[in-house]
Amino acid sequence: MIRSSEIVDVYGRRVWDSRGRPTIEAEVWLDDGSVGRGIAPAGASRGRNESVDKRDGGTRLGGHDVKEALAGIAAEIMPALTGMDAAEQAEIDERLINLDGMPNKSRLGGNAIVAVSIATLHAAAASAGVPLWQYLADGAPVSLPMPEIQIFGGGAHAGRRIDIQDLMVMAIAATSFEQAIEMTAEVYLAAGRIMAETGRLQGVADEGGYWPVFASNEEALETLVKAIEAAGFVPGAEVAISLDVAASEFGAKGRYRLGLESRELDTDGLCDLLLGWCRRYPIVSVEDPLAEDDPEGLRRFTAAIGATVQVIGDDFLVTDAARIEQAAAGGHVNAALIKVNQAGTVSETGAALRAARAAGMGTIVSARSGETEDLTIAHLAVGWNAGQIKVGSFSRSERMAKWNELIRIEQGLGSSAAFAGCSWMPLRQHPALP
Ligand code: PGA
Ligand code: ZN
Repeated sequence: MIRSSEIVDVYGRRVWDSRGRPTIEAEVWLDDGSVGRGIAPAGASRGRNESVDKRDGGTRLGGHDVKEALAGIAAEIMPALTGMDAAEQAEIDERLINLDGMPNKSRLGGNAIVAVSIATLHAAAASAGVPLWQYLADGAPVSLPMPEIQIFGGGAHAGRRIDIQDLMVMAIAATSFEQAIEMTAEVYLAAGRIMAETGRLQGVADEGGYWPVFASNEEALETLVKAIEAAGFVPGAEVAISLDVAASEFGAKGRYRLGLESRELDTDGLCDLLLGWCRRYPIVSVEDPLAEDDPEGLRRFTAAIGATVQVIGDDFLVTDAARIEQAAAGGHVNAALIKVNQAGTVSETGAALRAARAAGMGTIVSARSGETEDLTIAHLAVGWNAGQIKVGSFSRSERMAKWNELIRIEQGLGSSAAFAGCSWMPLRQHPALP
């Protein structure tokens, strides 16, 4: 029997990401004429256990070209998927995983595999004639996610100008996604005014947050509080702070080097520094406070503050269901960042999200620092009811495209649009929360 969602062609093309680097767009065609596209994003502060992208190396285009990965799509992936049912995402993804044969997807490339997996999902939703979020939800309840939005970039996204990678805000008093976005826009604009008035406005970092012209990490925190106030909000009661420390970028083996401040800390030293910030600033969420090779440090940090602050694992969990289950059992973190290209396929990403939810962890669907106009994560966050989303800052259209798509989805849902607010965060006891 010929199915209407039978794959008749898989095609890969080279497109370009927000850092001007080559990446892969896959196109999946079905026999009913439906087509889906997916573009692979790219990280700069990657966990060492993520899926590995296939890049050509050498000197051309900084070694980032993807010709070999595209050749793999044409020679191996297209013939393997032709004739399969695009609606059977789990079967498609299993075929891709087995075809690659490597635990980290390095043979065909995580970038080739994730682009094809996402393109298949879009093709199946197109064939079903419903928006992607609705296709993913399959009748289950959905909600618009609470956004974490970067105001200052840092770390690997800003030439290591400061050590902390993301200084973000969460509009915790917002009662709709649109309101959360408007409140964040006020903070972003206020932060820009403060940077300009103090002679520190020097453009933006990779994810669109202001370039961090600060003398210390803590000065960035102080300026963020000032921006929240200047925007007319009460820090901690209406708009709170979320940090991605991305500690694997400046530490390993229990030693952490704060380049900006020319000092080295051990695990306890970094824990104490961050716990002090959590006491003195209205911080409700901290991602990767310790490095990916420091599970004991993560456990200590979460034991100290995890009842009131969300502690997110990114590099430590790499969107892997088994790692998430272990981390939940070990008390290492209480929330999981969910990145499709860390896992490598849509099905493995969904399994990671379900594992986190089953363990009572918060879940945050996340973009990468190298992004494109691909809107998939906006739909995943709603359709999978993830509760939170992180896309970088409030400028550069590869970021704004996701916020704008979520506004469209919220409007499309009309009066039935629920907003996750703070409900999915493991910090209902936090004194600041409404
Ligand atoms: P990356 O970082 O996309 O550059 O790896 C994003 C993050 O650490 O959350
Ligand atoms: Zn991170």
